[in-house]
Amino acid sequence: MRNVDFLVVGSGIAGLSFALKAAKHGKVLIVTKASEDESNTKYAQGGVAVVVDKKEDSFEKHIEDTLIAGDGLCDEEVVRIVVEEGPERIREIIDYGTNFDRTKSGDYDLAKEGGHSEYRVLHYKDITGFEMERALLQQIHQNPNIEILTHHFAVDLITQHHLGQFVDKQSKDITCYGIYAFNTETKEVETIKAKVTVMASGGAGHIYATTTNPVIATGDGVAMVYRAKGKVRNMEFIQFHPTALYNPGEYPSFLISEAVRGFGGVLKRTNGEEFMHEYDSRKSLAPRDIVARAIDAEIKKSGEDYVYLDVRHKKKADILAHFPNIYAKCLDIGIDMTKDMIPVTPACHYMCGGVLVDHVGKSSIQRLYSCGECASTGLHGANRLASNSLLEALVFAHRIYENAIIDFETNQIPDNIPDWDEKGVQLSNEDILVTHNVREMQKLMNDYVGIVRSDFRLDRAMRRLKFLHDETEEFYKKTKLSVKLCELRNLIQVSYLVVKSAMARKESRGLHYTTDYPEHMDVLEDTVF
Ligand code: SIN
Repeated sequence: MRNVDFLVVGSGIAGLSFALKAAKHGKVLIVTKASEDESNTKYAQGGVAVVVDKKEDSFEKHIEDTLIAGDGLCDEEVVRIVVEEGPERIREIIDYGTNFDRTKSGDYDLAKEGGHSEYRVLHYKDITGFEMERALLQQIHQNPNIEILTHHFAVDLITQHHLGQFVDKQSKDITCYGIYAFNTETKEVETIKAKVTVMASGGAGHIYATTTNPVIATGDGVAMVYRAKGKVRNMEFIQFHPTALYNPGEYPSFLISEAVRGFGGVLKRTNGEEFMHEYDSRKSLAPRDIVARAIDAEIKKSGEDYVYLDVRHKKKADILAHFPNIYAKCLDIGIDMTKDMIPVTPACHYMCGGVLVDHVGKSSIQRLYSCGECASTGLHGANRLASNSLLEALVFAHRIYENAIIDFETNQIPDNIPDWDEKGVQLSNEDILVTHNVREMQKLMNDYVGIVRSDFRLDRAMRRLKFLHDETEEFYKKTKLSVKLCELRNLIQVSYLVVKSAMARKESRGLHYTTDYPEHMDVLEDTVF
């Protein structure tokens, strides 16, 4: 049993940057299910969008680009908050030791990505997230008030439910007292009590069979909050990155950063013809939803599994300077991107919805905040603008910090919180059944809940998910915990929320495109469950 002031679930940029600040006021415990640096942040290649050059760029332009990408569903106040507070948060992260590339004249080397009207993406080669994570962890390691508990899987939030009290979803009094965490080494479930809990557990790419996300991205935070009767919003908006490397058998997929298109990369059919001008005047640099749908349409027409991304017209030295990681990866599989076109295909990349939070990151559950990919702040609306997520994570981690320190000391924790109850469960000797169910679920999400949806497909998905859900819950009740089993449960829960939200949205907007309702509705509505 542990007792801390601030508990952070997840060790990506959102959780780490909150932890560093909160540690000035109390003991912080970061719980993460893998190693300390394993997170979606680490794999963010392109960079972080922020207004740096006020001569060419402006807050108004960044706000406008974000709103256009979000297709009417962004919370405008949140967009302004993130864009305007962003530069200060970036200064902090630079002070922590993060490097961003500079030009020969010493200015920041700003890149452009889809949907951006200006060059405003700060980057460090093509490993920006890795660099930010490195700098944050270096600071964390020097801070005596922060402990990181690696290889601990957060199973469930502790609320009044665990004290035997009935909690109603509509109640405003559901309160989080911490989490139950599964120690993957001892195989025991530990009770961690906290005055404040911050859910920063990242995304859910692995609800699909094709994703750019690392294997840890299984939607644990959203599933945990939903099980604890917290509210989640806009889960139908799953962003498919248009250009994952087509390399059959590789799972997860390797990302070919959008920065490659910002640098001049052009999408082409397998016969070498350009096609994006047939879909959007911004061509290869249209927002992601449009580019991913265009590639999907091309693939369906041609019967090929991919299209090409061509940078052969750029100087070799520039390609190597900007994209050393992508160059090396492609070369490794026999593609020299300075001479060969790169085969690419869309893959699940980012969850735009998530745990519903207000403008200071508070969820619908008392004492529980959320930031990073698992949170729905209102910034992304129906489609996230490229490279806005790292900025959002920093801004909201700071806002949570400012709000959480006000009165956390008065948060009492009941002394009758029970330990995890494992009575009646047995060790499974058939873990392969879990693996089969994960594969079945991922395949059905790919087949029926992809880039182009329909009522018929969503109905099919829901029926199959219900079956997998019931079967998994029955197995879960009888079986000793394992990470794989918990992840399966979470993946099914998140897939269910995606399908349920998609069924509720009777229109096409942003990332949600359905052939049954191809137009916008007249009203703007969030889906909240
Ligand atoms: C990329 O480099 O294309 C990914 C960056 C992002 O998802 O914002």
